[in-house]
Order: sequence, then C-alpha cells, then structure tokens
Amino acid sequence: MSDLERIFAEIYKQDKWYIRDRTKVSSQVDLNLLLSDFKKFMKGVGVLSMVDLGCGLGPWNQSIVDAVPNYIGVDIVESVVERNRELLGKPGVEFIYSDIIAYSIPTTDMILCRAVMFHLHENLVFGILNKIAESDVKWVAMTTFTAVDRVNRLDLKPGSFYPISLTNTPFLLPHPHKLIKEVEMNPPLYPDKCLGIWKIEDLVKWKLNYGKSPIQEGEQAQ
Ligand SMILES: C[S@@+](CC[C@H](N)C(=O)[O-])C[C@H]1O[C@@H](n2cnc3c(N)ncnc32)[C@H](O)[C@@H]1O
Repeated sequence: MSDLERIFAEIYKQDKWYIRDRTKVSSQVDLNLLLSDFKKFMKGVGVLSMVDLGCGLGPWNQSIVDAVPNYIGVDIVESVVERNRELLGKPGVEFIYSDIIAYSIPTTDMILCRAVMFHLHENLVFGILNKIAESDVKWVAMTTFTAVDRVNRLDLKPGSFYPISLTNTPFLLPHPHKLIKEVEMNPPLYPDKCLGIWKIEDLVKWKLNYGKSPIQEGEQAQ
C-alpha cells in the first residue's frame, strides 16, 4: 500500500468525511441541483462515456454512475473500489483500483475529477493535470474555487484540505469553458466552489506554457 493510499484509507476508516454519518456534515452541496446542471451540460455536448478520477464512495458517486451509459471510476483506496463494485457494479459500470498517476486513461468523452485535487500536494496536482492534458478525451470537469483573490496554499499535506483555484498561480489554467456552481445548503462555507469544465485542447495548450514535468509512475508527492 502506498503512503497516499494509507492516508485516504484511514480517512474512510475513521469516517472523517462523515460518509457513514451524514448528520455530522456542517454544510452540504445540493447534489441534485449539481447533477441536474451537469447532466444538462453532458447532454448538450453528447457525453456518453466518462472516467471518474478519484471517484470516492458516497452520495455523489452513487448518482453520477447513472448519468452516463459508460462509466469507469478510479480510486487509490482498494476498499473503496471493492465497496463500489459491490454496490454499483453493473454492465457499463466499472471500478479500477489505481493511483491516477499510474492509470492509463482510456479514450472517453469526459474525465471527471471532483473534490480530489484540493486534498493533494501541488506536485501531484500538476502531475494529474499533465496526465489529463495527454489523454485522448474531449472534456474534463474538475473542482475549482473561483474567487479571483484566492491564494493557493502550496505544500499541502496529502489528505488535508485547502480550496484551490486552478486558474490562479501556480496552476494558471485558462478560464473554463463552463462553470457549474456547487450550491451549499446550510451555511455556505465556500460560495465560489464550482465544477469547472474545460476542453482538453485548452489543457494541451496550457501544458506547453505552464505544465511542469508530470510526476512519474511510483513517485509520490512529499
Ligand atoms: C473527497 S473524495 C471525492 C470523491 C468524489 N470524487 C466526490 O466528488 O464525491 C477524494 C477521493 O480521491 C481519491 N484519491 C485521492 N488521490 C488519488 C490518487 N492519486 N489516485 C486515485 N484516487 C485518489 C481518494 O481516495 C478519495 O476517494
């Protein structure tokens, strides 16, 4: 087991994200609204297949598997992948146990990478963005926080959390093709939390100008 898997496996074991006990979550995103907006976008551009990088386990991924005819969920935690296979496995739906960095992204219409990068060290974020830029996929949807004055915290300890803006320094992605707001119920802790949707061709251009060298397979962020 890699250090990164151990960190995330422990989070699930201790239910630190309150997946088993939803009553303890301080503020919840309106997932029905998010899903409805996201499905509308996918229908508009004809997304029929998706790879969900860092698919996790919980209310969101239970809904997203039914949003496309062909779905592949990838996660670094083996127990999460096994549980997903038991709960959600069916024809057209597959779960893969892998670190995103080591995974060969298949040709699909869309990559989803929601609520993943804000738990990772910047080196790993760059590694994942580069990997996505090299894939044979049309669209990518990733969590980003849009306040223009957001300062990204660097050297994040893997598994902790800091809201990141993918368009601010040091990532400097172009403005997304589409932003879908993640509306929080109860106290809105992060009113600028969004699912940003980019064309992969925009990430290809970004990689030429700003992408650092991707992290090699087996290499872990500090
Ligand atoms: C906060 S959860 C998000 C789950 C889901 N995407 C969602 O939106 O609810 C982050 C997930 O990313 C996974 N993860 C983090 N780093 C990863 C990596 N390098 N490769 C694969 N999965 C990773 C974790 O195990 C965890 O399941």
